[in-house]
Amino acid sequence: MNDLTEQMKVCLASVFAFYLKTHNFHWNVEGPNFPQYHSFLDGLYNDIWESVDKFGEQIRTLNSYAPGSLSRFTTLSVIDDQLNIPSALKMIKELEMDNKKLIEELKKANTLAEKSNAVGLANFLQDRIDTHYKHDWMLRSIGKA
Ligand SMILES: [Fe+2]
Repeated sequence: MNDLTEQMKVCLASVFAFYLKTHNFHWNVEGPNFPQYHSFLDGLYNDIWESVDKFGEQIRTLNSYAPGSLSRFTTLSVIDDQLNIPSALKMIKELEMDNKKLIEELKKANTLAEKSNAVGLANFLQDRIDTHYKHDWMLRSIGKA
């Protein structure tokens, strides 16, 4: 169960970092297609945000404490911080790559959950993987030159 708990913490921190970056890009994106980018990113960050709480609660269900500080998230997350304001297209490309990384981490957690017979958690993770595949489709399609 320990590996699963640790992997879930990596997922929580990475999902939170991805959420924050998406919201950051929603605020700061610029260019002639601003309305489309701004509103697409709104939908994206809202979906990710809604999932954050569930990751924390699943960790508590596994009888561990959920990390909830920026320093812990920085240590645990696989998503790199973006301190600059990239162009709109570069933002989308970066989110596409981050989302792919996230899918890999969610898959690792799912494999561990299945091994531990944590059926509800595996269901939750599979739903999230599916949703992130949908995000991959959209990010890929927007980012196609
Ligand atoms: Fe907004």
